[in-house]
Amino acid sequence: MSETVHKPTLYSAVQPSGTITIGNYIGAIRNFKLLSDEYDCLFCMADLHALTVRQNPADLRRRTAELAALYIACGLDPEKNIIYAQSHVHQHAELAWILNCFTYMGELNRMTQFKEKSLKHADNINAGLFTYPVLMAADILLYQTNVVPVGADQKQHLEICRDIANRFNGVYGNVLTIPEPYIAKTSAARIMSLNDPTSKMSKSGEVDSYISVVDDPDTIRRKLRRAVTDSDGEIRLDPENKPGVTNLITICAAMRGCTPEEVCQELQGKGYGALKDATAEAVISVLSPIQEEYKRLISDKQYISDVLKSGAERASYLANRTLRKVYKKVGLYQG
Ligand code: TYM
Repeated sequence: MSETVHKPTLYSAVQPSGTITIGNYIGAIRNFKLLSDEYDCLFCMADLHALTVRQNPADLRRRTAELAALYIACGLDPEKNIIYAQSHVHQHAELAWILNCFTYMGELNRMTQFKEKSLKHADNINAGLFTYPVLMAADILLYQTNVVPVGADQKQHLEICRDIANRFNGVYGNVLTIPEPYIAKTSAARIMSLNDPTSKMSKSGEVDSYISVVDDPDTIRRKLRRAVTDSDGEIRLDPENKPGVTNLITICAAMRGCTPEEVCQELQGKGYGALKDATAEAVISVLSPIQEEYKRLISDKQYISDVLKSGAERASYLANRTLRKVYKKVGLYQG
């Protein structure tokens, strides 16, 4: 990121809380790359957010480094973009505290992700899970972010981030930039589970419900062959009545870089076997080069560690500017 030429700022993050899926790739990471030339970008490994669910410490550490390698393997240049771990930049937790004091319990109570995660982790409904969106708002607002590319599931979190920032600015003037979400308007913004196409594909789902970005070609073919479809045999987009088939068409089109309609046209009358095979080959051809690069990068521990160190330094510098301003505005003694 250049300190002299100012492009608008793009910010996004992924939690290193499980294996990264093609849902994360299609809904978010591939858009990072597509947008990266037009913006000054920060790409974060949201390791603090991951702690809202119990993590095995060694796995969390390993996954954080793996996610950094994956970002780079997906084409995000760590010289041009800032790639860093959230916990390495202490300003995130500090701004989150201030923003907690500008967020209402009622707002957080309405968050569907909180409700879903509370059901899933009923034995550990911790306060971090509840205030998760406030830390996410701090991530975004620290960098005076203009645009945040995310999947459709994060829309509500972006809305509350904007509400918090507007509330803060309403009291103290224009301190925080109001970010715009960047969410695909198509079904690519919400890739569905392969074995239950009425729910979102998730890193924490069963192993056959998702395709990991590091799955090998045979695994990808096997998982797609088993994907749930329906019995009418027609290849067309119909998210209501044909969620499984619609999901496969969506994945195939996203990976080929064409429209879902083009996929339907080409495979008209050929049956679900053909759709599954075409989808598998499209997924494999996108993931193979990424996997090759990823394997090379992940074996170079020193390189990844250097990227994270430099990323944290550059992010800290920017974060500090906003945090100082916020501290001053709210009346914290500066000396
Ligand atoms: P996370 O780690 O759950 O997901 C990372 C990104 O992938 C998108 N995504 C999907 N897109 C399409 N289909 C799916 N099935 C699918 N599953 C996940 C998510 O929308 C997300 O863009 N809270 C965030 C991490 C975060 C963040 C931030 C994001 C922390 N701070 C600041 C943006 C800005 C999350 O849990 O992502």
